Amino acid sequence: MPMDDRLVMTGMRPEDEELDASLRPRHLREYIGQEKVKNSLQIYISAALKRHDALDHILLYGPPGLGKTTLACIVAAEMGQNIRVTSGPAIERPGDLASILTNLNQGDILFIDEIHRLSRAVEEVLYPAMEDYALDIMIGKGPTARSMRLDLPKFTLVGATTRAGRLSAPLRDRFGIVFRLEMYSPEELAKIVARSAGILGMPFDQGGIMEIARRSRGTPRIANRLLKRVRDFAQVRADGHITEEVAKESLNMQDVDLLGLDRIDRAVLNAMIEKFGGGPVGLDTLAAVTGEDAVTIEDVYEPYLMQLGFIMRTPRGRVCTPAAYQHLGKTPPAASPASADDGVEQTQLF
Ligand code: ADE
Repeated sequence: MPMDDRLVMTGMRPEDEELDASLRPRHLREYIGQEKVKNSLQIYISAALKRHDALDHILLYGPPGLGKTTLACIVAAEMGQNIRVTSGPAIERPGDLASILTNLNQGDILFIDEIHRLSRAVEEVLYPAMEDYALDIMIGKGPTARSMRLDLPKFTLVGATTRAGRLSAPLRDRFGIVFRLEMYSPEELAKIVARSAGILGMPFDQGGIMEIARRSRGTPRIANRLLKRVRDFAQVRADGHITEEVAKESLNMQDVDLLGLDRIDRAVLNAMIEKFGGGPVGLDTLAAVTGEDAVTIEDVYEPYLMQLGFIMRTPRGRVCTPAAYQHLGKTPPAASPASADDGVEQTQLF
């Protein structure tokens, strides 16, 4: 199955854009979960508003689909300012960034998604912009070249990344506020699904909502996507109500299991167990036997499998835990490889 066809993938799919726009909360009070981030943001926003000042630059990091863009839009709305949305790969040359920066107005929010993908040359333009609200431009070439400094309006950069560890230290150090977004609990996801179902006018009961929440891999973007698929099923095969039974049947039919794993997740775990005795197995080997790209396995499949405690990263490779064996209905080996004190790299997610 190609990556883009996965119902439980965390990246944006074209259908999500329209869905996200209608379901996205516009104010902090409507935003469910991420309580620590919300509480801190509320304080920083109130203080900046009182001082009539721009907010400090904010870095948001964490797995995809957890609401980084949504939060950036909320920050802009709460500050009563406009937002300009762009991304690391879209800013190819220093001149592209210079043009974005010179078109900002005082107090604007500039959101750069996937900020870890900015080139070095573009980053160099960002440093004085963030620190001194200034743009250094070179005039001329060779020995007569000189640099000129242009003043920029005071703006707030909100940077988002799935990989804080990939950010260069000078860039990371220029953010005054750094938040890590966490995966959502099933209860929080159930509230998000209930809110979305309400907005979309779908009748539901709590059992149906919880079933979707449990299978959404801790990710609102997936929860909203599953909700849409369950709605289709409910309308065609039932009376339109999203009940527990309808949700279960619909999601089973789509190969999304009780914990939200799909065929590819299970193929990765099965390969580890059946071909490598549960591991340790190197990432590249795993990629070769499953036919998936190594970076995709690392960025897309592993974070949730690790969150579930199904696999661990060890110095010698990936290892399956007894919980993974149990989930697949297999018997773990007597002395599980995961119980050896191999798990030292487990904390190094970023
Ligand atoms: N939709 C997507 N993420 C959400 C969140 N955290 N709260 C409310 N609705 C959402």
